[in-house]
Amino acid sequence: MQPQDLNMTTTVTGHQLFLFVTLGDGESDGKLAEAIDLLGQNMENVHDVDGPPSDEAFARGRFQLLRAESALTSEQQIIHPAVSESHGLIRLECATFEPIGEYESELRKLIEPFGSSVETLAGVMRPRSYTSHAMTQFAYAHAMPPGPGDKFPLAAVTPMNKTEAWWQMDFLHRESFFLPRYDENENMVVKGHALASAAGVPGINRRLVHAPEGYGLEGSYDFVGYFEFAEADAPVFREVMAGLRDTQQNPEWKYVLEGPEWWGRRVRTAKEFLTRG
Ligand code: HEM
Repeated sequence: MQPQDLNMTTTVTGHQLFLFVTLGDGESDGKLAEAIDLLGQNMENVHDVDGPPSDEAFARGRFQLLRAESALTSEQQIIHPAVSESHGLIRLECATFEPIGEYESELRKLIEPFGSSVETLAGVMRPRSYTSHAMTQFAYAHAMPPGPGDKFPLAAVTPMNKTEAWWQMDFLHRESFFLPRYDENENMVVKGHALASAAGVPGINRRLVHAPEGYGLEGSYDFVGYFEFAEADAPVFREVMAGLRDTQQNPEWKYVLEGPEWWGRRVRTAKEFLTRG
């Protein structure tokens, strides 16, 4: 399904790659870490950046290295071991695809000789499709801006698909799931997506990408969510996920099939990235 057939925006504002790395048994020496650091030398390391990217950095490309927090990761409906069992993640973002596509192929060349492998999830950034001015004030105006790894050390990745029934729904019907629903006496009967997750607005930085080639297709997730937060806000993130998954509060999730909920810790250098926990 293409966005124009769904009344969703067709605009692309950027590209992201999530490179999930599974380390092999081959012993890597310090040279591999050096080579991975070199790969990112023309890009911005997001680890130490406070606030949203500058246009200049976004045009060059940006990267964040993360080490898996395997004990916090959980499989959901779509079993995907190359993600859930990975040892680390490199998240790339850029205004154009080429610089990060190049990074991906060079990374493969560097690490595959050591028996390591890369599983890539790709997505495009798009403006919001269902959000009014008023919802922007509620859900985004007070949202937490991105911050450095020392302030927000934890991250979670949530790949997911929506079901065929969702994509067959009329857009007004789909849009209604983001708002609360009321009975004939105007009593709220369900919270909907935005209210069910509202606790996350002040403390969880959130980003979302969409499937690059269209929705409901084999071989890509419809959406990949990416969230960064402080250690102290980890329980808030869990609460938000529980609220969204509660189909009594958020009937949208009846139409969601999730890939693994992957947790990681942001690290500055390739040396830390390659250290097994
Ligand atoms: C933390 C508070 C959150 C708020 C206030 C919030 C609010 C919203 C709103 C208003 C939209 C509609 C965007 C549009 O106009 O296209 C949206 C979309 C979306 N959100 Fe959230 N969200 C939150 C957290 C989450 C979390 C934790 C997940 C994760 C798994 C998530 C997954 C999604 C997805 C996949 C979409 C796109 C849905 C679609 O287009 O069908 N959100 N969110």
